[in-house]
Amino acid sequence: MIELTLSIIKPDGVKKGLSGKIISIFEENGFEIKAIKKLRLTKKEAESFYFIHKERPFFKSLVEFMTEGPVIAMIIAGEDAIQKNRNIMGATNPENAAEGTIRKMFAESIERNIVHGSDSPESAKFEISFFFNFFEII
Ligand code: CMP
Repeated sequence: MIELTLSIIKPDGVKKGLSGKIISIFEENGFEIKAIKKLRLTKKEAESFYFIHKERPFFKSLVEFMTEGPVIAMIIAGEDAIQKNRNIMGATNPENAAEGTIRKMFAESIERNIVHGSDSPESAKFEISFFFNFFEII
């Protein structure tokens, strides 16, 4: 089934000049870029995007990290896109990520892990509408 999912190149990925490489990885894996924008999240926006983690000990630091510089948000589409994107990204903690995955190749730590991807159809729906409106999806 063709699915849409949200991908974010986080501030560490943008700062390290990895955006082009990451977009190429998605395209080489058969994803279509349906929408894309560069923006800098405010503290409030980062807190609402990650609201499900608000009780976690890393929440404050995660919000600081996600607001330290611009991010690139994308809607990517393809067969089984939500799970496939998670496979391409690798485990949240780069130490546990499989060889060849984006996080294994580029991430510094469990927090500064280069990319975000929606983890379920429900979160994809919420996260896509967080960044994009209907008319921006082509
Ligand atoms: P992401 O896939 O964007 O979802 C939540 C983010 O919280 C995660 O990637 C990491 O950036 C961060 N995160 C998750 N677990 C931890 C942790 N134990 N310590 C610090 N940051 C974490």
